[in-house]
Amino acid sequence: MPSALTANMMETPVTADFLPLMGTDYVEFYVGNGKQSANFYKNAFGFQSIAYAGPETGMMDRVSYVLRQNQITFVLTTALKMNNPIADHVYKHGDGVKVLALKVEDATDAWKQTTIRGGKSYLEPTTLKDHEGEVVLSGIHTYGDTVHLFVERKNYSGSFMPGFRKWESRSNPTSTGLLYVDHCVGNVGWNQMNPWVKFYEEVMGFRNILSFDDKDISTEYSALMSKVMSNGNGYVKFPINEPAEGKKKSQVEEYLDFYNGEGVQHIAIATHDIIETVTTLQQRGVEFLNIPGSYYETVLERVGKIDEDLEPLQKLGILIDRDDEGYLLQIFSKPMQDRPTLFFEIIQRKGAKSFGKGNFKALFEALEREQDARGNL
Ligand code: FE2
Repeated sequence: MPSALTANMMETPVTADFLPLMGTDYVEFYVGNGKQSANFYKNAFGFQSIAYAGPETGMMDRVSYVLRQNQITFVLTTALKMNNPIADHVYKHGDGVKVLALKVEDATDAWKQTTIRGGKSYLEPTTLKDHEGEVVLSGIHTYGDTVHLFVERKNYSGSFMPGFRKWESRSNPTSTGLLYVDHCVGNVGWNQMNPWVKFYEEVMGFRNILSFDDKDISTEYSALMSKVMSNGNGYVKFPINEPAEGKKKSQVEEYLDFYNGEGVQHIAIATHDIIETVTTLQQRGVEFLNIPGSYYETVLERVGKIDEDLEPLQKLGILIDRDDEGYLLQIFSKPMQDRPTLFFEIIQRKGAKSFGKGNFKALFEALEREQDARGNL
């Protein structure tokens, strides 16, 4: 698909902000068991119950649970029957991200602007109404089976959108301090990074703000390349990874094998207090990659002075990096499901606007230890 798109897009000049985005509206996961996933995200991550759709609300083929924490909305959707696109998605990919939904002022215009530039339509502009107002949705395909929905909800006052009912639960675990989606990373196939960079530039008006080649991101064994795409106001950032040749299998290749194609690799979520957030997440059962003690012996020489004590950072496995504007603290979870596919990053930015390039080596060595333990290196 990217090559067909590319041919079409060549003639369209890039113009600034023909697609104004107000941020991530929600992330929808297609999962094998929505009820249990919702419970996990509530109890382990500290999300709250917001809305529900299913047979009781007229949705006969699926159930969806909507959860929220500060500005982050997750939707967990499960098929109720076979021969259903959600069931097929889970059969092929396992649990994973289907929809990266973006908040817009005008979903009809967003669809027009992107499809005339070569975006493949997933959903033509559709108005959903109930007694609390209306939501306009539209959407286009991106890498793999992943889609972007454009969500216009300025005329809606309900809990999520028409078709959903408010979900009041007696179980309301406290927040873990997760604030908003910082960036969402896609893994694409061999030689597909640049076509998808072009897609985000030409179809969605994004800019390539950072690039990492295989010299930046390689260990003794495996490598990858990455380009970070950002929309005009910087609210939405989509890094794109592609595998690179190494002595052994790239972590991106392992993902592609188990996801059966391209898809979302990780979602990075911001916090104002990463030590507090990660301490709570670990206590509630979220597992993170282990970082060797040797990382902490030299890290302060590399990043300079930081506000935090090193000891709790080392105890939790939090990584540190610095750029021209400040520093950042970040940590990566183990995969969220049995397949080695989607994981989360927790990030606290203290001025830095970058993505932790200085940590890539330590991080990828940690990932490779896990990959090796699975026999996939
Ligand atoms: Fe990241």
